[in-house]
Amino acid sequence: MRQALIAGNWKMHKTPSEARAFAAELAREIGRERETEVVVAPPFVSLLPVKEALQGSSIKLAAQDTFWEMEGAFTGEVSPPMLKEVGCHYVIVGHSERRTHFGESDEAVNKKVKALLKVGLRPIICVGERLEQREAGQTFSVVKGQVEGALDGLGAQEVSEVVIAYEPVWAIGTGRTATPQQASEVHAYIRGLLKEAFGEEVAEGVRILYGGSVKPDNIDDLMAEADIDGALVGGASLKVDSFSRIVRFRRSG
Ligand code: 13P
Repeated sequence: MRQALIAGNWKMHKTPSEARAFAAELAREIGRERETEVVVAPPFVSLLPVKEALQGSSIKLAAQDTFWEMEGAFTGEVSPPMLKEVGCHYVIVGHSERRTHFGESDEAVNKKVKALLKVGLRPIICVGERLEQREAGQTFSVVKGQVEGALDGLGAQEVSEVVIAYEPVWAIGTGRTATPQQASEVHAYIRGLLKEAFGEEVAEGVRILYGGSVKPDNIDDLMAEADIDGALVGGASLKVDSFSRIVRFRRSG
């Protein structure tokens, strides 16, 4: 059984003091969740204050990006060992906003994944097609290229540490969620790719999250799908009420 994982990607929201206060509220509200793994990803400058506010709760910390070198002359970048030391468990890589605004390639994502695994951090690898790609019938080929690119050169043991997030670009921040069926068929396809490349055991263990306009009113239906193991939540992770309700999705069956 894969443990459900609900992760809040705060993107470029909340100053460090706001983030600390918000994390303290979350810790009070959902800090005792055990059945579902709960993760929050604040901006770099808020990692430490959020870590302190989450102390003693079950909520884990993630960063939104990393560089692939361990140290050196890379002005403005943050390395995996730095993220490890401030208490991150997970790091998001390859988010579509990074691919779109910062030209992040599959090759860069792959280097970041390898660097994170080297220091024992777990990558949350984002993949997903743009609207015109979906309309051109390229969803599967785009996702295949991104998944294979991100995992290139990794062994089965390493792949069992990663989380994949399917985030169709047309569903991010648009209020236009993929239907559970649309998401589910891509999730099943990704699991099939993992099975082919790394074997059934690895494929059955890797969690595949859905992201893109996840809200309290659609989480239950999404989570009812067998291959949807959790959610990567943007906008709705910025309010205690909506994020808590998503974390406490209704389990079917
Ligand atoms: P929204 O939930 O705001 O659509 O964002 C999704 C996302 O990009 C999470 O990484």
